[in-house]
Amino acid sequence: MKFFIDTANLNDIAEAESLGILDGVTTNPSLMAKEKISGTEAVMAHYKKICDITDGDVSAEVISTDFEGMKAEATELVKIADNIVVKIPMIRDGVKTLAWCASQGIRTNCTLVFSAGQAILAAKAGATYVSPFIGRIDDIGWDGMQLIADIAEIYAIQGFETEILAASIRNGKHIIDAAKAGADVVTCGLSAFESLFNHPLTDIGLEKFLADHAKAAGH
Ligand code: G3P
Repeated sequence: MKFFIDTANLNDIAEAESLGILDGVTTNPSLMAKEKISGTEAVMAHYKKICDITDGDVSAEVISTDFEGMKAEATELVKIADNIVVKIPMIRDGVKTLAWCASQGIRTNCTLVFSAGQAILAAKAGATYVSPFIGRIDDIGWDGMQLIADIAEIYAIQGFETEILAASIRNGKHIIDAAKAGADVVTCGLSAFESLFNHPLTDIGLEKFLADHAKAAGH
């Protein structure tokens, strides 16, 4: 399973990269706004900075919602770096754009996916990644993780090659459950990744090992 970090914060990306287990970065317009990055030039420059930190796939989202606009943005975004993946919303023109990108060899991430039907459309259109939003489905009282399992089952039966990118992942349990449900990738903030490190028995065990070592050495 791949680990992507879901942020546009350069420090968090660098920190995740330094762990040696980062496979990529996902961003979206809200995450860009959170970093106070606005205007096409600044956004493009920020993507370049992210691509300078990591060789992993970097999802860069289009703003247009029409076919021609999305095609034009995809064409510009992939010029930034080889590891750019164009993030395209699951709307009618988005599906057309996914298919066009596939025909041009442009890799894509289909975002805002909330149903198995939408995931089938994304795969049919040749998306590289499909992003079901787990946390946001849970937020409305539905079962986000069941959607990952459903898509994994469908893709396996049908032989679709689109990778399932579990997005809107909010905590460590989400990461573990997405791994069990068949996600190829999880994307989340740094704190969710870091929560995987924690176990009280690890801390207690290490303290005891070090204390025993010190005792044996006569300290
Ligand atoms: O990048 C898309 C997704 O991960 C957003 O997550 O927490 O805003 O629902 P969230």
